Amino acid sequence: MTTALTADAGTLDGEAMFDALIEADGRIEPRDWMPEAYRRTLIRQISQHAHSEIIGMQPEGAWITRAPSLKRKSILLAKVQDEAGHGLYLYSAAQTLGITRDEMTQQLVDGKARYSSIFNYPTPTWADMGAIGWLVDGAAICNQVPLCRASYGPYGRAMVRICKEESFHQRQGFEILLTLMQGTEEQREMAQDAVNRWYWPSLMMFGPPDDDSPNSAQSMAWNIKRFSNDDLRQRFVSMLVPQAAVLGVTLPDPDLRFNDETGQYDMGEIDWTEFHEVLAGRGPLNTLRRQHRREAHEEGAWVREAAAAYAAKKNAARTQTAAA
Ligand SMILES: [Fe+2]
Ligand SMILES: [Fe+2]
Repeated sequence: MTTALTADAGTLDGEAMFDALIEADGRIEPRDWMPEAYRRTLIRQISQHAHSEIIGMQPEGAWITRAPSLKRKSILLAKVQDEAGHGLYLYSAAQTLGITRDEMTQQLVDGKARYSSIFNYPTPTWADMGAIGWLVDGAAICNQVPLCRASYGPYGRAMVRICKEESFHQRQGFEILLTLMQGTEEQREMAQDAVNRWYWPSLMMFGPPDDDSPNSAQSMAWNIKRFSNDDLRQRFVSMLVPQAAVLGVTLPDPDLRFNDETGQYDMGEIDWTEFHEVLAGRGPLNTLRRQHRREAHEEGAWVREAAAAYAAKKNAARTQTAAA
């Protein structure tokens, strides 16, 4: 398929080539012609995704110094560090579309760019580390595995490695909850409480219902998105139900049951008012998360300056050697 397209490339103009590649489920690469709307959609989606990884370091980062053992501390540290790495791959992928890292960072600290609403919720107990890994990273996997086949090459390739790491994140969360559920009555209550608080927001991570998701159709036509929000949500819940049984936790939805006729899970109504409130910046910790990111960026200015000065010095030395 790819060979045929390459052979034809000489006779096709940019737009026809783009359409043919999408039609053949091929990959669009940075130097290929692409519609402006496709480029803008990807810049928005990939940068929001990158911001989510970076902001997502905060709720868990807060527990690194308070993790209950050295082993837990090193696991959590590795997990939070992975999220920084995810942010960096994704910023790099977005840069291939013609936006700079500085512009994206500025949009984030100025409050102009969005990131996933889930990271605006607080993490008051250690069990939150378990619930985030199990539910939040779990939802991220369901969302992101199909993105490994996204039509834009750099995005799809970044997602392959990210997804492998997300599986580790989900298992470490599950294991934290399993340990707590096998502990004292108080520990079991702590685990259940964290699941109660994170369950609904994790379902909201798939975005609004299909009939209220205006950009989905275009993203699916461009092979960026492969499954609808509701399909992915359904897939996530089907994965959670047996795992919740192993853990011994209750999913906090009294209406949740398997429907033999549809072969799917019926669920209770999601509180979309809460979703829109958090999205509009009025979630529990929106201001704090952004403020921390802004401060970290400002406090890190000297590191960026030092790195740039060092690179300039190295370059100058190399030019001199080459000239000699
Ligand atoms: Fe991540
Ligand atoms: Fe993760």
